[in-house]
Amino acid sequence: MLRDRWDSRTAFVLASIGSAIGLGNVWRFPYVCYANGGGAFLLAYLVALFIAGIPLLILEFGLGHKMNGSAPQSFFKVKKSYEWMGWMAILVGFFIVCYYAIIMSYCFNYGIAAVTQAWGNNPQEYFDKLTGITSGPFEMGSIRGPVIMGLLLSWIAIVLCIWKGAKTVGKVVYFTVLIPWFLLIVFVVRGVTLPGAIQGLNYYLTPDFSKLLEPQVWLAAFTQVFFSFSIGFGVMIAYGSFLPRDSDIVNNAFIIGLCDAGTAFLGGLAVFGALGYHSFITGKPVEAVVSAGPGLVFVTYPAIISNLPFWQPLFGVLFFLMLLTLAIDSAFSLVEGVAAGVQDKWKLSHRTVNISVALLAFGLAIPLTFGGGLHWLDIVDRFMTQFGLISIVLIECLVIGYIYGSRKMKEYVNSQSEFSVRGWWDIFIKVVTPIVLLFLIAMEVIARVKSSYGGYPRGAEFIGGWLVVILIPVVGFILMKIKRVEA
Ligand code: PFF
Repeated sequence: MLRDRWDSRTAFVLASIGSAIGLGNVWRFPYVCYANGGGAFLLAYLVALFIAGIPLLILEFGLGHKMNGSAPQSFFKVKKSYEWMGWMAILVGFFIVCYYAIIMSYCFNYGIAAVTQAWGNNPQEYFDKLTGITSGPFEMGSIRGPVIMGLLLSWIAIVLCIWKGAKTVGKVVYFTVLIPWFLLIVFVVRGVTLPGAIQGLNYYLTPDFSKLLEPQVWLAAFTQVFFSFSIGFGVMIAYGSFLPRDSDIVNNAFIIGLCDAGTAFLGGLAVFGALGYHSFITGKPVEAVVSAGPGLVFVTYPAIISNLPFWQPLFGVLFFLMLLTLAIDSAFSLVEGVAAGVQDKWKLSHRTVNISVALLAFGLAIPLTFGGGLHWLDIVDRFMTQFGLISIVLIECLVIGYIYGSRKMKEYVNSQSEFSVRGWWDIFIKVVTPIVLLFLIAMEVIARVKSSYGGYPRGAEFIGGWLVVILIPVVGFILMKIKRVEA
């Protein structure tokens, strides 16, 4: 079967940027940054970006391009018995897209509520009403009609975008990348010129160096970089494999990484400007104005919007349209990553695979549309990223660094690029990143043994966290053992 290919280099760069830039930049980055001390986190994020983010982006593009295959296929080509590692990446990506679509559903609902002005003057209340959030994960509450409707709409939109594979994606991304950038700039300008914004910006931009001694801040920074760059989910490996033979890798990795980080930084400016404004009107300090967590942008933004002097509904719709257009190309890249893996192995048609993935992910996310769903989302996100993602990236570094050979990969990547990577790349892949990641995983294990994440009951942490994390390598192994279909 002939591999799907991007029409042009621009299509590839935009699709990868589209995958990287998403809710991670505008929804996740601000609350993780807020919860980890603002400026201190920003500094750790920058370090993580250069020592792990960009080197791994080069590694994933190089691996996909060289092996001409999805994550499982690429690992299989490194060594047959390693195929399950690629499946692990894909499974983590699959779990992520299940809850990613839930956040998209919130965006749909907020967009509609902006027109009907349903959040009025109290967005916190609207958020609670929409999610029907209960007091804990074991209190599931009732199913939320609007959330499940939004989920359905999100999936329909995602499937339509990837109907014809790389060809449709290559066209859709012109819109899904460029529109949100334009809107984001409008919001940043608005956010930083609000009264009191400076307080928020100070919190964001002034590092508290003592915070850098907390491993937690570093763990959050590394996982945020991986999540944001779409590294460790098999997505960038698949996208690299769609790249025509004579393409540039290093240059593209730098462009994509820097655009992504730049967008997160901008997203932060807008959100912290808004927090400053919030603190100004409520008289509370910035670090205490709203509760940190996945609800942050759903509370801060509507608050600014409903306090704008004019055009509130328009700004509201635009903001949530921005979130949706940002999210959709990330969501479909996840589906593409899964689909590429399945197609490489079992030679099924693109459409069959996409629709099956969509249905399965929709079904699995149904419990998250209940009142208790947000608690589960929080737990799954935490374990998927802090354990699943970090372990996969660690495996990638070790397998390419030592088994395949970082020098061999470097030579390949350089042969495909205008700029060459040098010895620093081997050092980051073989030594620095693995040591840091091992240390961070160990610290997280210790922290979780001492106390459950976010004070959730141990049972919930076990089901939503440990169990899912343990299942991933097991299912990966089973998928590896299923017989492949030769072309
Ligand atoms: N990078 C996306 C974001 O920041 O929102 C999320 C994402 C997309 C994660 C694709 C993983 C992935 F494979």
